[in-house]
Amino acid sequence: MLSEKTRNAIIHLQKLYPEKRSALIPALHLAQAEVGYLPRETQIEVAELFGIDPNEVHSVVTFYDMFYDKPVGKHILHVCKNVSCMLRGADGVLSKLCQKLEIQPGGTTADGQFTVVASECLAACDRAPMMLIDDKVVGPVQEGDLDHILAEAKKGPGHPAPVPKVEIEHA
Ligand code: FES
Repeated sequence: MLSEKTRNAIIHLQKLYPEKRSALIPALHLAQAEVGYLPRETQIEVAELFGIDPNEVHSVVTFYDMFYDKPVGKHILHVCKNVSCMLRGADGVLSKLCQKLEIQPGGTTADGQFTVVASECLAACDRAPMMLIDDKVVGPVQEGDLDHILAEAKKGPGHPAPVPKVEIEHA
């Protein structure tokens, strides 16, 4: 169950839009920031707050790469697999990364340190092939860079949950 603070923030967000469902994505960011990911029960709770079918929420959660419907590692390694990055070697980077970590795309290492996500365009095509390491854009990435990238990532605090700033005015 979401905290009262998060539920109130979501309700406040809904009032900022002509159509309250327009607040769904920032609301999901708030929920994910609290829970760490978006399990089915949280999706249902958010759907209830919006008065919409939980399957609609589920379709949003599974469409966007920045939402996670299962627990993720401390560090999230997004590898862009879209056209610009693919043409410049993203497939090799992704497979080498997964080989090193002994997981498949979408998987999390046994020690909970890393989750690898094969992403759509992350809006840094000029750095293709690129990765988003937690909140840091890295690229162009060569397969030989991966050991250094993983070592540097481990030094960081982990992936930040992008939390929309919600200021609730009190009467
Ligand atoms: S195609 Fe990879 S960042 Fe745009």
